[in-house]
Amino acid sequence: MKDVIRQLEEKRAAARLGGGQRRIEAQHKKGKLSARERLELLLDPGTFEEYDMFVEHRCNDFGMAAQAIPGDGVVTGWGTINGRTVFVFSQDFTVFGGSLSEPHAEKICKIMDQAMKVGAPVIGLNDSGGARIQEGVASLAGYAEVFQRNVLASGVVPQISLVMGPCAGGAVYSPAMTDFIFMVKDSSYMFVTGPDVVKTVTHEQVTQEDLGGATTHTARSGVADLAFDNDVEAMEEARRFFDFLPMNNREPPPVRPTDDPLDREEPSLDNLVPASPNKPYDMRELILKVVDEADFFELQRDYARNIIIGLGRFQGSTVGVVANQPMVLAGCLDIDASRKAARFVRFCDCFNIPILTFVDVPGFLPGTAQEYGGIIKHGAKLLFAFAEATVPKVTVITRKAYGGAYDVMSSKHLRGDVNYAWPSAEIAVMGPKGAVEIIFRAEMDDPAKIEARTEEYRRKFANPFVAGHRGFIDDVIMPSSTRRRVARSFAMLRSKKLENPWKKHDNIPL
Ligand code: HXC
Repeated sequence: MKDVIRQLEEKRAAARLGGGQRRIEAQHKKGKLSARERLELLLDPGTFEEYDMFVEHRCNDFGMAAQAIPGDGVVTGWGTINGRTVFVFSQDFTVFGGSLSEPHAEKICKIMDQAMKVGAPVIGLNDSGGARIQEGVASLAGYAEVFQRNVLASGVVPQISLVMGPCAGGAVYSPAMTDFIFMVKDSSYMFVTGPDVVKTVTHEQVTQEDLGGATTHTARSGVADLAFDNDVEAMEEARRFFDFLPMNNREPPPVRPTDDPLDREEPSLDNLVPASPNKPYDMRELILKVVDEADFFELQRDYARNIIIGLGRFQGSTVGVVANQPMVLAGCLDIDASRKAARFVRFCDCFNIPILTFVDVPGFLPGTAQEYGGIIKHGAKLLFAFAEATVPKVTVITRKAYGGAYDVMSSKHLRGDVNYAWPSAEIAVMGPKGAVEIIFRAEMDDPAKIEARTEEYRRKFANPFVAGHRGFIDDVIMPSSTRRRVARSFAMLRSKKLENPWKKHDNIPL
Protein backbone atom coordinates (compact mmCIF):
# COMPACT_ATOMS: atom_id res chain seq x y z
CA MET A 1 0.00 0.00 0.00
CA LYS A 2 2.75 2.40 0.98
CA ASP A 3 4.44 1.70 -2.36
CA VAL A 4 1.32 2.55 -4.29
CA ILE A 5 0.90 5.78 -2.39
CA ARG A 6 4.52 6.68 -3.04
CA GLN A 7 4.05 5.85 -6.71
CA LEU A 8 0.90 7.95 -6.79
CA GLU A 9 2.74 10.90 -5.29
CA GLU A 10 5.58 10.49 -7.77
CA LYS A 11 3.21 10.38 -10.71
CA ARG A 12 1.32 13.41 -9.46
CA ALA A 13 4.57 15.31 -8.98
CA ALA A 14 5.68 14.37 -12.52
CA ALA A 15 2.34 15.52 -13.95
CA ARG A 16 2.52 18.79 -12.04
CA LEU A 17 5.96 19.44 -13.42
CA GLY A 18 4.75 19.00 -17.02
CA GLY A 19 7.63 19.47 -19.43
CA GLY A 20 10.01 20.32 -16.57
CA GLN A 21 11.26 23.32 -14.63
CA ARG A 22 13.39 24.60 -17.50
CA ARG A 23 10.41 24.83 -19.83
CA ILE A 24 8.22 26.36 -17.10
CA GLU A 25 10.86 29.06 -16.66
CA ALA A 26 10.97 29.60 -20.42
CA GLN A 27 7.18 30.08 -20.30
CA HIS A 28 7.58 32.63 -17.47
CA LYS A 29 10.29 34.46 -19.42
CA LYS A 30 7.79 35.00 -22.24
CA GLY A 31 5.49 36.64 -19.68
CA LYS A 32 3.19 33.61 -19.69
CA LEU A 33 1.94 31.60 -16.71
CA SER A 34 1.95 27.81 -16.74
CA ALA A 35 -1.23 25.84 -17.43
CA ARG A 36 -1.73 25.11 -13.74
CA GLU A 37 -0.94 28.62 -12.55
CA ARG A 38 -3.63 29.90 -14.90
CA LEU A 39 -6.21 27.50 -13.47
CA GLU A 40 -5.30 28.55 -9.94
CA LEU A 41 -6.21 32.13 -10.84
CA LEU A 42 -9.31 31.21 -12.82
CA LEU A 43 -10.99 28.95 -10.28
CA ASP A 44 -12.04 29.50 -6.67
CA PRO A 45 -9.16 28.39 -4.41
CA GLY A 46 -9.17 24.69 -3.62
CA THR A 47 -12.05 23.81 -5.95
CA PHE A 48 -10.18 22.28 -8.88
CA GLU A 49 -10.92 18.58 -9.35
CA GLU A 50 -8.41 17.31 -11.84
CA TYR A 51 -9.13 14.38 -14.16
CA ASP A 52 -6.82 12.17 -16.18
CA MET A 53 -3.57 13.26 -14.62
CA PHE A 54 -2.08 9.88 -15.51
CA VAL A 55 -3.03 9.80 -19.17
CA GLU A 56 -0.03 9.41 -21.47
CA HIS A 57 0.33 9.42 -25.23
CA ARG A 58 0.40 6.14 -27.14
CA CYS A 59 2.80 7.14 -29.91
CA ASN A 60 5.89 5.03 -30.57
CA ASP A 61 7.27 6.84 -33.59
CA PHE A 62 10.17 9.29 -33.65
CA GLY A 63 11.44 8.21 -30.23
CA MET A 64 8.19 9.25 -28.54
CA ALA A 65 7.95 6.04 -26.48
CA ALA A 66 10.76 7.29 -24.28
CA GLN A 67 9.20 10.69 -23.73
CA ALA A 68 5.80 10.11 -22.12
CA ILE A 69 4.74 12.84 -19.69
CA PRO A 70 1.75 12.20 -17.40
CA GLY A 71 -1.19 14.39 -18.38
CA ASP A 72 0.10 14.68 -21.97
CA GLY A 73 0.02 18.41 -22.43
CA VAL A 74 -3.38 19.38 -21.10
CA VAL A 75 -4.76 19.84 -17.59
CA THR A 76 -8.50 19.07 -17.41
CA GLY A 77 -11.26 18.91 -14.83
CA TRP A 78 -13.79 21.14 -13.14
CA GLY A 79 -13.99 23.69 -10.38
CA THR A 80 -16.06 26.69 -9.43
CA ILE A 81 -16.01 30.41 -10.16
CA ASN A 82 -17.69 32.30 -7.35
CA GLY A 83 -19.36 29.07 -6.35
CA ARG A 84 -20.71 28.07 -9.78
CA THR A 85 -19.49 24.95 -11.60
CA VAL A 86 -17.33 25.25 -14.68
CA PHE A 87 -15.46 22.64 -16.70
CA VAL A 88 -11.97 23.62 -17.81
CA PHE A 89 -9.05 22.55 -19.90
CA SER A 90 -5.70 24.27 -19.90
CA GLN A 91 -3.11 23.34 -22.50
CA ASP A 92 0.43 22.96 -21.19
CA PHE A 93 2.93 24.45 -23.63
CA THR A 94 5.80 22.87 -21.70
CA VAL A 95 4.70 19.41 -22.89
CA PHE A 96 5.43 19.03 -26.62
CA GLY A 97 4.43 22.65 -27.10
CA GLY A 98 0.90 21.91 -25.83
CA SER A 99 0.37 20.03 -29.08
CA LEU A 100 -2.77 17.97 -29.37
CA SER A 101 -2.32 14.20 -29.34
CA GLU A 102 -5.13 11.67 -29.49
CA PRO A 103 -5.25 11.22 -25.68
CA HIS A 104 -4.96 15.00 -25.18
CA ALA A 105 -8.11 15.36 -27.31
CA GLU A 106 -9.83 12.54 -25.41
CA LYS A 107 -9.23 14.41 -22.17
CA ILE A 108 -10.84 17.57 -23.56
CA CYS A 109 -13.75 15.57 -24.97
CA LYS A 110 -14.34 13.90 -21.60
CA ILE A 111 -14.84 17.18 -19.76
CA MET A 112 -16.98 18.56 -22.60
CA ASP A 113 -19.23 15.48 -22.43
CA GLN A 114 -19.57 15.86 -18.70
CA ALA A 115 -20.28 19.58 -18.98
CA MET A 116 -23.13 18.74 -21.35
CA LYS A 117 -24.53 16.10 -18.98
CA VAL A 118 -24.59 18.40 -15.97
CA GLY A 119 -25.33 21.60 -17.88
CA ALA A 120 -22.28 23.68 -17.00
CA PRO A 121 -20.12 26.04 -19.10
CA VAL A 122 -16.73 25.10 -20.55
CA ILE A 123 -13.70 27.38 -20.47
CA GLY A 124 -10.72 26.38 -22.60
CA LEU A 125 -7.27 27.89 -22.09
CA ASN A 126 -5.48 27.42 -25.42
CA ASP A 127 -1.69 27.44 -25.66
CA SER A 128 -0.66 24.92 -28.27
CA GLY A 129 1.53 24.28 -31.30
CA GLY A 130 -1.44 22.54 -32.93
CA ALA A 131 -1.67 18.93 -34.04
CA ARG A 132 1.00 16.65 -32.46
CA ILE A 133 3.20 16.27 -35.52
CA GLN A 134 4.55 12.86 -34.49
CA GLU A 135 1.03 11.40 -34.40
CA GLY A 136 -0.29 12.36 -37.82
CA VAL A 137 -3.92 11.61 -38.54
CA ALA A 138 -4.69 10.41 -34.99
CA SER A 139 -4.17 13.96 -33.86
CA LEU A 140 -6.36 15.36 -36.65
CA ALA A 141 -9.08 12.92 -35.62
CA GLY A 142 -8.74 14.22 -32.07
CA TYR A 143 -9.31 17.78 -33.25
CA ALA A 144 -12.40 16.76 -35.18
CA GLU A 145 -13.82 15.03 -32.08
CA VAL A 146 -13.41 18.32 -30.20
CA PHE A 147 -14.97 20.31 -33.07
CA GLN A 148 -17.99 18.01 -33.13
CA ARG A 149 -18.53 18.55 -29.43
CA ASN A 150 -18.12 22.33 -29.80
CA VAL A 151 -20.97 22.28 -32.29
CA LEU A 152 -23.27 20.09 -30.22
CA ALA A 153 -22.59 22.18 -27.11
CA SER A 154 -23.26 25.44 -28.99
CA GLY A 155 -26.44 26.96 -27.60
CA VAL A 156 -26.61 24.36 -24.82
CA VAL A 157 -23.80 25.46 -22.47
CA PRO A 158 -21.74 28.65 -22.79
CA GLN A 159 -18.26 28.00 -24.18
CA ILE A 160 -15.43 30.48 -23.70
CA SER A 161 -11.97 30.27 -25.27
CA LEU A 162 -8.94 32.06 -23.94
CA VAL A 163 -6.12 32.08 -26.45
CA MET A 164 -2.96 32.47 -24.40
CA GLY A 165 -0.23 31.37 -26.76
CA PRO A 166 0.01 30.01 -30.29
CA CYS A 167 -3.15 28.73 -31.92
CA ALA A 168 -2.51 27.83 -35.52
CA GLY A 169 -3.76 25.71 -38.39
CA GLY A 170 -7.09 23.98 -38.05
CA ALA A 171 -6.70 24.34 -34.30
CA VAL A 172 -8.20 27.83 -34.53
CA TYR A 173 -11.55 26.32 -35.44
CA SER A 174 -12.34 25.02 -31.99
CA PRO A 175 -12.14 28.50 -30.43
CA ALA A 176 -13.92 29.90 -33.48
CA MET A 177 -16.94 27.74 -32.73
CA THR A 178 -17.15 28.73 -29.08
CA ASP A 179 -19.21 31.72 -27.95
CA PHE A 180 -16.37 34.06 -27.02
CA ILE A 181 -12.66 34.35 -27.66
CA PHE A 182 -10.39 36.37 -25.38
CA MET A 183 -6.73 36.84 -26.25
CA VAL A 184 -3.64 38.07 -24.40
CA LYS A 185 -1.70 40.96 -25.93
CA ASP A 186 1.81 40.20 -27.25
CA SER A 187 1.78 36.50 -26.32
CA SER A 188 -1.06 34.96 -28.29
CA TYR A 189 -1.83 34.62 -31.96
CA MET A 190 -4.28 32.80 -34.19
CA PHE A 191 -3.99 32.04 -37.89
CA VAL A 192 -4.95 29.33 -40.33
CA THR A 193 -1.52 29.45 -42.00
CA GLY A 194 1.54 31.11 -40.51
CA PRO A 195 3.77 33.85 -41.97
CA ASP A 196 6.03 31.37 -43.83
CA VAL A 197 3.18 29.76 -45.75
CA VAL A 198 1.70 33.19 -46.44
CA LYS A 199 5.01 34.30 -47.92
CA THR A 200 5.24 31.24 -50.17
CA VAL A 201 1.69 31.42 -51.43
CA THR A 202 0.88 35.13 -51.66
CA HIS A 203 4.40 36.63 -51.45
CA GLU A 204 3.23 38.84 -48.57
CA GLN A 205 5.71 39.54 -45.77
CA VAL A 206 3.92 39.71 -42.46
CA THR A 207 4.87 39.14 -38.84
CA GLN A 208 3.03 36.70 -36.57
CA GLU A 209 1.71 39.65 -34.59
CA ASP A 210 0.35 41.46 -37.65
CA LEU A 211 -1.09 38.31 -39.14
CA GLY A 212 -2.86 36.99 -36.09
CA GLY A 213 -2.01 38.90 -32.92
CA ALA A 214 -4.50 40.24 -30.43
CA THR A 215 -4.80 43.67 -32.06
CA THR A 216 -5.44 42.13 -35.47
CA HIS A 217 -8.24 39.95 -34.19
CA THR A 218 -9.91 42.41 -31.83
CA ALA A 219 -9.79 45.48 -34.09
CA ARG A 220 -9.58 44.17 -37.64
CA SER A 221 -10.94 40.68 -38.19
CA GLY A 222 -13.37 40.65 -35.27
CA VAL A 223 -12.43 37.00 -34.60
CA ALA A 224 -11.61 37.75 -30.95
CA ASP A 225 -13.87 39.60 -28.55
CA LEU A 226 -11.32 41.17 -26.25
CA ALA A 227 -7.59 41.24 -25.56
CA PHE A 228 -6.06 41.60 -22.11
CA ASP A 229 -2.64 42.90 -21.06
CA ASN A 230 -1.42 39.69 -19.45
CA ASP A 231 -2.47 36.26 -18.18
CA VAL A 232 -3.46 37.55 -14.75
CA GLU A 233 -5.81 40.17 -16.14
CA ALA A 234 -7.22 37.59 -18.58
CA MET A 235 -8.11 35.23 -15.71
CA GLU A 236 -9.61 38.02 -13.60
CA GLU A 237 -11.76 39.27 -16.46
CA ALA A 238 -12.83 35.74 -17.40
CA ARG A 239 -14.10 35.32 -13.83
CA ARG A 240 -15.95 38.64 -14.00
CA PHE A 241 -17.48 37.70 -17.35
CA PHE A 242 -18.50 34.24 -16.11
CA ASP A 243 -20.60 35.84 -13.38
CA PHE A 244 -22.92 37.28 -16.04
CA LEU A 245 -23.59 33.95 -17.74
CA PRO A 246 -26.29 31.38 -17.11
CA MET A 247 -25.14 27.77 -16.62
CA ASN A 248 -27.00 26.46 -19.64
CA ASN A 249 -29.87 27.04 -22.06
CA ARG A 250 -32.54 25.86 -19.61
CA GLU A 251 -31.60 28.12 -16.75
CA PRO A 252 -32.29 31.80 -16.27
CA PRO A 253 -29.32 34.16 -15.99
CA PRO A 254 -27.81 34.39 -12.52
CA VAL A 255 -29.03 37.06 -10.10
CA ARG A 256 -26.46 39.00 -8.14
CA PRO A 257 -27.76 41.00 -5.18
CA THR A 258 -27.44 44.75 -5.67
CA ASP A 259 -28.05 47.88 -3.62
CA ASP A 260 -28.57 49.99 -6.73
CA PRO A 261 -32.20 51.20 -6.50
CA LEU A 262 -34.45 50.22 -9.37
CA ASP A 263 -36.01 53.69 -9.44
CA ARG A 264 -32.71 55.59 -9.52
CA GLU A 265 -33.28 58.72 -11.63
CA GLU A 266 -30.42 60.07 -13.76
CA PRO A 267 -31.20 63.79 -14.36
CA SER A 268 -28.03 64.21 -16.45
CA LEU A 269 -29.55 61.99 -19.13
CA ASP A 270 -32.13 64.69 -19.89
CA ASN A 271 -29.24 66.65 -21.46
CA LEU A 272 -27.41 63.75 -23.11
CA VAL A 273 -28.77 64.23 -26.63
CA PRO A 274 -27.43 67.49 -28.14
CA ALA A 275 -29.84 70.03 -29.62
CA SER A 276 -28.35 69.61 -33.08
CA PRO A 277 -29.37 66.29 -34.66
CA ASN A 278 -25.96 65.96 -36.31
CA LYS A 279 -23.92 66.28 -33.14
CA PRO A 280 -22.71 63.02 -31.64
CA TYR A 281 -22.86 61.95 -28.01
CA ASP A 282 -21.49 58.93 -26.23
CA MET A 283 -24.03 56.11 -26.04
CA ARG A 284 -21.73 54.34 -23.59
CA GLU A 285 -22.55 57.06 -21.04
CA LEU A 286 -26.23 56.14 -21.23
CA ILE A 287 -25.49 52.43 -20.78
CA LEU A 288 -23.23 53.00 -17.78
CA LYS A 289 -25.79 55.28 -16.16
CA VAL A 290 -28.70 52.86 -16.41
CA VAL A 291 -27.26 49.41 -15.64
CA ASP A 292 -26.74 48.25 -12.03
CA GLU A 293 -23.71 49.84 -10.40
CA ALA A 294 -22.36 51.02 -13.78
CA ASP A 295 -21.07 47.46 -14.24
CA PHE A 296 -21.06 46.81 -17.99
CA PHE A 297 -18.96 44.08 -19.61
CA GLU A 298 -18.42 45.35 -23.12
CA LEU A 299 -17.49 42.87 -25.83
CA GLN A 300 -15.71 43.60 -29.11
CA ARG A 301 -15.11 47.20 -28.05
CA ASP A 302 -12.41 47.75 -30.70
CA TYR A 303 -14.32 46.22 -33.62
CA ALA A 304 -17.24 47.84 -35.48
CA ARG A 305 -17.29 50.60 -32.89
CA ASN A 306 -20.45 52.04 -34.45
CA ILE A 307 -22.38 49.48 -32.43
CA ILE A 308 -21.90 48.58 -28.76
CA ILE A 309 -22.61 45.13 -27.36
CA GLY A 310 -22.14 43.78 -23.86
CA LEU A 311 -23.66 42.44 -20.68
CA GLY A 312 -25.02 44.43 -17.77
CA ARG A 313 -27.61 43.83 -15.07
CA PHE A 314 -30.98 45.19 -13.95
CA GLN A 315 -32.14 44.26 -10.44
CA GLY A 316 -29.14 41.95 -10.35
CA SER A 317 -30.23 39.93 -13.37
CA THR A 318 -28.14 39.76 -16.56
CA VAL A 319 -29.29 41.69 -19.63
CA GLY A 320 -27.60 41.91 -23.04
CA VAL A 321 -27.24 45.46 -24.37
CA VAL A 322 -27.10 46.37 -28.06
CA ALA A 323 -26.70 50.06 -28.84
CA ASN A 324 -25.86 52.20 -31.85
CA GLN A 325 -22.90 54.48 -31.12
CA PRO A 326 -23.45 57.95 -32.69
CA MET A 327 -19.77 58.80 -32.03
CA VAL A 328 -18.62 56.39 -34.78
CA LEU A 329 -19.95 56.57 -38.36
CA ALA A 330 -22.92 58.45 -36.86
CA GLY A 331 -24.12 55.08 -35.54
CA CYS A 332 -24.84 53.71 -39.04
CA LEU A 333 -25.33 50.00 -39.50
CA ASP A 334 -22.69 48.49 -41.77
CA ILE A 335 -21.52 44.96 -42.51
CA ASP A 336 -19.26 44.60 -39.49
CA ALA A 337 -21.71 46.15 -37.04
CA SER A 338 -24.55 43.95 -38.30
CA ARG A 339 -22.51 40.75 -37.95
CA LYS A 340 -21.18 41.76 -34.56
CA ALA A 341 -24.58 42.54 -33.11
CA ALA A 342 -26.38 39.62 -34.80
CA ARG A 343 -24.12 37.04 -33.24
CA PHE A 344 -24.49 38.67 -29.84
CA VAL A 345 -28.30 38.80 -30.09
CA ARG A 346 -28.32 35.09 -30.97
CA PHE A 347 -26.04 34.33 -28.02
CA CYS A 348 -28.42 36.13 -25.67
CA ASP A 349 -31.42 34.35 -27.15
CA CYS A 350 -29.76 30.91 -26.81
CA PHE A 351 -29.14 31.49 -23.14
CA ASN A 352 -32.33 33.24 -21.99
CA ILE A 353 -30.66 36.61 -21.58
CA PRO A 354 -33.14 39.49 -22.13
CA ILE A 355 -32.07 42.13 -24.65
CA LEU A 356 -32.06 45.90 -24.17
CA THR A 357 -31.63 47.87 -27.39
CA PHE A 358 -30.74 51.57 -27.55
CA VAL A 359 -31.42 53.04 -30.96
CA ASP A 360 -29.83 56.05 -32.62
CA VAL A 361 -29.33 55.01 -36.20
CA PRO A 362 -29.46 57.16 -39.34
CA GLY A 363 -29.71 54.05 -41.53
CA PHE A 364 -27.50 51.54 -43.29
CA LEU A 365 -24.11 52.84 -44.46
CA PRO A 366 -24.33 53.59 -48.20
CA GLY A 367 -21.60 52.89 -50.77
CA THR A 368 -20.10 50.42 -53.19
CA ALA A 369 -17.82 48.91 -50.55
CA GLN A 370 -20.83 47.96 -48.50
CA GLU A 371 -22.94 46.74 -51.42
CA TYR A 372 -20.12 44.70 -52.96
CA GLY A 373 -19.32 43.32 -49.53
CA GLY A 374 -22.87 42.02 -49.21
CA ILE A 375 -24.50 44.41 -46.76
CA ILE A 376 -27.83 43.01 -47.91
CA LYS A 377 -27.01 39.58 -46.51
CA HIS A 378 -25.06 40.82 -43.53
CA GLY A 379 -27.64 43.43 -42.54
CA ALA A 380 -30.25 40.70 -42.84
CA LYS A 381 -28.39 38.75 -40.16
CA LEU A 382 -29.19 41.37 -37.55
CA LEU A 383 -32.78 41.66 -38.72
CA PHE A 384 -33.07 37.87 -38.60
CA ALA A 385 -31.48 37.62 -35.16
CA PHE A 386 -33.77 40.21 -33.56
CA ALA A 387 -36.83 38.76 -35.29
CA GLU A 388 -36.24 35.19 -34.17
CA ALA A 389 -35.28 36.09 -30.59
CA THR A 390 -37.95 35.08 -28.10
CA VAL A 391 -36.31 36.45 -24.94
CA PRO A 392 -37.74 39.64 -23.40
CA LYS A 393 -36.88 42.60 -25.64
CA VAL A 394 -37.00 46.21 -24.47
CA THR A 395 -36.08 48.97 -26.91
CA VAL A 396 -35.43 52.66 -26.30
CA ILE A 397 -35.10 55.05 -29.26
CA THR A 398 -32.97 57.94 -28.07
CA ARG A 399 -32.76 59.90 -31.32
CA LYS A 400 -32.73 58.71 -34.92
CA ALA A 401 -34.53 55.59 -36.08
CA TYR A 402 -34.57 55.90 -39.82
CA GLY A 403 -35.45 53.57 -42.66
CA GLY A 404 -34.79 49.85 -42.63
CA ALA A 405 -32.54 50.33 -39.63
CA TYR A 406 -35.62 51.40 -37.60
CA ASP A 407 -37.24 48.07 -38.41
CA VAL A 408 -34.07 46.11 -37.70
CA MET A 409 -33.23 47.52 -34.29
CA SER A 410 -35.68 45.43 -32.25
CA SER A 411 -38.73 47.36 -33.40
CA LYS A 412 -42.26 46.58 -32.27
CA HIS A 413 -42.81 44.77 -35.57
CA LEU A 414 -40.05 42.26 -34.75
CA ARG A 415 -41.88 41.34 -31.55
CA GLY A 416 -40.26 44.02 -29.39
CA ASP A 417 -42.09 43.62 -26.06
CA VAL A 418 -41.72 47.16 -24.76
CA ASN A 419 -40.67 49.96 -27.09
CA TYR A 420 -39.97 53.38 -25.64
CA ALA A 421 -38.80 56.61 -27.24
CA TRP A 422 -37.21 59.66 -25.72
CA PRO A 423 -38.78 63.06 -26.62
CA SER A 424 -35.74 63.61 -28.90
CA ALA A 425 -36.64 60.59 -31.06
CA GLU A 426 -37.03 60.99 -34.84
CA ILE A 427 -38.72 58.02 -36.47
CA ALA A 428 -39.23 58.14 -40.23
CA VAL A 429 -38.26 56.64 -43.57
CA MET A 430 -35.28 58.98 -43.82
CA GLY A 431 -33.89 62.27 -42.50
CA PRO A 432 -35.69 65.52 -43.49
CA LYS A 433 -33.04 66.70 -45.96
CA GLY A 434 -32.83 63.44 -47.92
CA ALA A 435 -36.61 63.03 -47.91
CA VAL A 436 -37.28 66.51 -49.30
CA GLU A 437 -34.62 66.14 -51.99
CA ILE A 438 -36.52 63.12 -53.30
CA ILE A 439 -40.17 64.02 -52.96
CA PHE A 440 -39.74 67.69 -53.93
CA ARG A 441 -37.06 67.26 -56.59
CA ALA A 442 -38.96 69.62 -58.90
CA GLU A 443 -38.54 72.47 -56.39
CA MET A 444 -34.80 71.96 -55.92
CA ASP A 445 -33.76 75.23 -57.61
CA ASP A 446 -35.79 77.22 -55.10
CA PRO A 447 -33.82 77.15 -51.81
CA ALA A 448 -36.53 79.01 -49.89
CA LYS A 449 -39.17 76.49 -50.88
CA ILE A 450 -36.88 73.57 -50.08
CA GLU A 451 -36.08 75.10 -46.70
CA ALA A 452 -39.80 75.39 -45.95
CA ARG A 453 -40.47 71.83 -47.09
CA THR A 454 -37.59 70.53 -44.97
CA GLU A 455 -38.96 72.36 -41.94
CA GLU A 456 -42.44 70.97 -42.64
CA TYR A 457 -41.06 67.42 -42.91
CA ARG A 458 -39.05 67.86 -39.70
CA ARG A 459 -42.12 69.13 -37.83
CA LYS A 460 -44.24 66.25 -39.11
CA PHE A 461 -41.86 63.31 -38.83
CA ALA A 462 -38.79 64.17 -36.78
CA ASN A 463 -40.52 63.23 -33.54
CA PRO A 464 -41.75 60.14 -31.71
CA PHE A 465 -45.45 60.86 -32.10
CA VAL A 466 -46.21 59.51 -35.58
CA ALA A 467 -44.98 56.09 -34.38
CA GLY A 468 -46.73 56.73 -31.06
CA HIS A 469 -50.09 57.32 -32.79
CA ARG A 470 -49.91 53.86 -34.26
CA GLY A 471 -48.82 52.14 -31.05
CA PHE A 472 -45.41 51.30 -32.48
CA ILE A 473 -43.99 53.13 -29.47
CA ASP A 474 -45.54 52.19 -26.14
CA ASP A 475 -44.64 55.44 -24.42
CA VAL A 476 -42.47 58.52 -24.71
CA ILE A 477 -40.33 58.58 -21.58
CA MET A 478 -38.09 61.13 -19.93
CA PRO A 479 -34.44 60.14 -20.38
CA SER A 480 -33.85 60.55 -16.64
CA SER A 481 -36.42 57.83 -15.94
CA THR A 482 -34.89 55.29 -18.35
CA ARG A 483 -33.41 52.97 -15.71
CA ARG A 484 -36.69 52.72 -13.82
CA ARG A 485 -38.82 52.18 -16.92
CA VAL A 486 -36.48 49.58 -18.40
CA ALA A 487 -35.94 47.70 -15.13
CA ARG A 488 -39.68 47.56 -14.44
CA SER A 489 -40.33 46.30 -17.97
CA PHE A 490 -37.82 43.50 -17.58
CA ALA A 491 -39.33 42.59 -14.20
CA MET A 492 -42.79 42.43 -15.81
CA LEU A 493 -41.41 40.33 -18.69
CA ARG A 494 -39.76 37.74 -16.45
CA SER A 495 -42.65 35.33 -17.04
CA LYS A 496 -42.76 35.93 -20.81
CA LYS A 497 -43.51 32.83 -22.88
CA LEU A 498 -43.04 32.83 -26.63
CA GLU A 499 -42.07 30.02 -28.96
CA ASN A 500 -41.11 29.99 -32.60
CA PRO A 501 -42.70 27.38 -34.90
CA TRP A 502 -41.06 23.93 -34.84
CA LYS A 503 -38.22 23.57 -37.30
CA LYS A 504 -35.02 21.55 -37.58
CA HIS A 505 -33.12 24.81 -37.60
CA ASP A 506 -33.53 28.11 -39.38
CA ASN A 507 -31.60 29.23 -42.42
CA ILE A 508 -30.11 32.55 -41.30
CA PRO A 509 -28.39 34.32 -44.23
CA LEU A 510 -24.77 33.38 -43.49
C1 HXC B 1 4.83 18.30 -31.56
C2 HXC B 1 5.60 20.36 -31.02
C3 HXC B 1 4.63 20.96 -31.87
C4 HXC B 1 3.75 20.10 -32.58
C5 HXC B 1 5.79 22.53 -30.96
N1 HXC B 1 6.29 21.38 -30.49
N2 HXC B 1 4.78 22.29 -31.82
N3 HXC B 1 5.70 19.03 -30.87
N4 HXC B 1 3.89 18.78 -32.38
N5 HXC B 1 2.81 20.61 -33.34
C6 HXC B 1 7.36 21.23 -29.53
C7 HXC B 1 8.70 21.63 -30.06
O1 HXC B 1 9.32 20.51 -30.69
C8 HXC B 1 9.45 22.00 -28.77
O2 HXC B 1 9.86 20.84 -28.12
C9 HXC B 1 8.37 22.61 -27.93
O3 HXC B 1 7.13 22.12 -28.47
C10 HXC B 1 8.32 24.11 -27.99
O4 HXC B 1 8.38 24.52 -29.34
P1 HXC B 1 9.36 25.67 -29.85
O5 HXC B 1 9.33 25.62 -31.32
O6 HXC B 1 10.68 25.53 -29.17
O7 HXC B 1 8.65 26.96 -29.27
P2 HXC B 1 8.48 28.36 -29.93
O8 HXC B 1 9.78 28.85 -30.48
O9 HXC B 1 7.80 29.21 -28.91
O10 HXC B 1 7.49 28.15 -31.18
C11 HXC B 1 6.18 27.71 -30.96
C12 HXC B 1 5.50 27.36 -32.31
C13 HXC B 1 6.40 26.33 -33.08
C14 HXC B 1 5.37 28.61 -33.14
C15 HXC B 1 4.15 26.81 -31.99
O11 HXC B 1 6.77 25.28 -32.18
C16 HXC B 1 5.71 25.77 -34.26
O12 HXC B 1 5.67 26.38 -35.31
N6 HXC B 1 5.22 24.51 -34.09
C17 HXC B 1 4.57 23.83 -35.19
C18 HXC B 1 3.24 24.44 -35.47
C19 HXC B 1 2.48 23.67 -36.50
O13 HXC B 1 2.80 23.73 -37.70
N7 HXC B 1 1.53 22.85 -36.04
C20 HXC B 1 0.76 22.04 -36.85
C21 HXC B 1 -0.34 22.98 -37.36
S1 HXC B 1 -1.47 22.17 -38.32
P3 HXC B 1 11.14 20.82 -27.15
O14 HXC B 1 11.30 19.39 -26.81
O15 HXC B 1 12.26 21.41 -27.92
O16 HXC B 1 10.77 21.68 -25.97
C22 HXC B 1 -2.63 21.74 -37.26
C23 HXC B 1 -3.68 20.98 -37.89
C24 HXC B 1 -4.89 20.94 -37.03
O17 HXC B 1 -2.58 22.01 -36.14
C25 HXC B 1 -5.96 20.46 -37.90
C26 HXC B 1 -7.25 20.44 -37.22
C27 HXC B 1 -8.30 20.23 -38.24
